[in-house]
Amino acid sequence: MNPFELHIPTRIYFGKEKADDFFEQLPSYGKKAMIVIGGGSVERMGYLDEVQDHLKNVGVDFVLFEGIEANPHAQTINKAAKIGKEESVDFMIALGGGSVMDASKAIAGLIHDDLDDIWPYTVGGPKYRQIKGALPVTCIPTTAATASEVTAHAVISNPEVKGKSPVSYPFMKPSASWLNPAYHTSLPKTTTRDGASDILSHVFENYLLGGNDSDLADRYSEGVMETVLDTLPKLELDPKNEHLRGQLLWASTMALNGMQIAGRKGAPFTLHNLEHALSGQNPELAHGRGLAILYPAYFRWLYKNDRAIDRMALLAKRLFGISKEDQKDSAMAFINNFEGWLKDSQLYERLSDQNIPEEVFGDVADYAIKIYGGGKDELAAAGPLTRKNIIEIFKLTEMQEPVEEVV
Ligand code: NZQ
Ligand code: ZN
Repeated sequence: MNPFELHIPTRIYFGKEKADDFFEQLPSYGKKAMIVIGGGSVERMGYLDEVQDHLKNVGVDFVLFEGIEANPHAQTINKAAKIGKEESVDFMIALGGGSVMDASKAIAGLIHDDLDDIWPYTVGGPKYRQIKGALPVTCIPTTAATASEVTAHAVISNPEVKGKSPVSYPFMKPSASWLNPAYHTSLPKTTTRDGASDILSHVFENYLLGGNDSDLADRYSEGVMETVLDTLPKLELDPKNEHLRGQLLWASTMALNGMQIAGRKGAPFTLHNLEHALSGQNPELAHGRGLAILYPAYFRWLYKNDRAIDRMALLAKRLFGISKEDQKDSAMAFINNFEGWLKDSQLYERLSDQNIPEEVFGDVADYAIKIYGGGKDELAAAGPLTRKNIIEIFKLTEMQEPVEEVV
């Protein structure tokens, strides 16, 4: 086992029955909250009314900020922080998906430090790591995807420079999160699929490149993967099923809380580095969708270059019950079986299907390396991943012809 430090400070309330318990502890964070929401889905579904009623019952005053985009824009976050300062809010309530939760963390930092613009503080910016504190953040996640309800990260987009990059501080970890599967029954099929893809990435990344020093991290990660692989097809048939929604939601929260890597070696977050650069290029590209497009190409590239073969072979055995004599054959069986699952889940397509044409592949590779290369002219993926390699992976995605959906 490798040495590690783990702090999971978020108090988690799971289930609609836990509403009162969640709201009754909110006054301990202050008298006035800023509720942050996205483009209106939570309002249309009546979730916002419910939250506001609960807040009135526990005597917490609030101001509402509406309009956080999917892939939240730095400019909108800055506007919200200005209002939060004028309104002297004490803490945040994020009611929405990863974009809303991430925006709330960034707003909490800007208000706390009395700053105007979040963008210079993101990875690659001139003021990276210079935020000193944040207001308490509480979350009510309405997607099963990012685990932002327990993480220290906030991923920010800046369409003005085609950029997407995170801020990450221990003090941005949410103080409390209420996980209510009932709020997930309204999720469209595409968003559900994209979320499932994101959950998988959070356990795949370190599993493949972080070595085999922690048996528990392996079994834990496989548990998350199996839950997602089993649950998504069932949700396709029964999207309003709260039990299934709860399975996916809990898998999502557990996929990026630190448990999934504890005891393994540190490993690069290569797929995320690449995906963030892709979503920077096209701010309409959902994070989980970008990852899904990258998986088959990235796995095949690792295979071709003899990287992570033992780990892909282990996944063939643990996820699909396949054990071949030759480890490379097992690794390929994992890739083929997982690719089949992506096809069945309508998560199989090309970058060009998402308005990212071949002409910009070089620009995207350059951006990923500039932001995540740590000063080198390459990324890491169990060895160097050069600009040429990244373009090669992007080009491989163009072989992934989408499968017609059978309705
Ligand atoms: O804006 P509204 O109207 O709310 O609609 C949203 C949005 O269009 C909709 N939606 C959310 N909950 C819904 C719903 N529609 C119906 N019913 C509901 N219950 O879903 C759309 C997508 O929402 P978004 O928040 O963008 O999706 P997601 O949760 O996947 O978040 C993606 C963002 O999180 C970042 C991603 O990069 C991306 O910017 N990530 C954050 C991480 C973290 N904080 O630790 C880690 C992740 O790896 C990821 O990078
Ligand atoms: Zn992710």
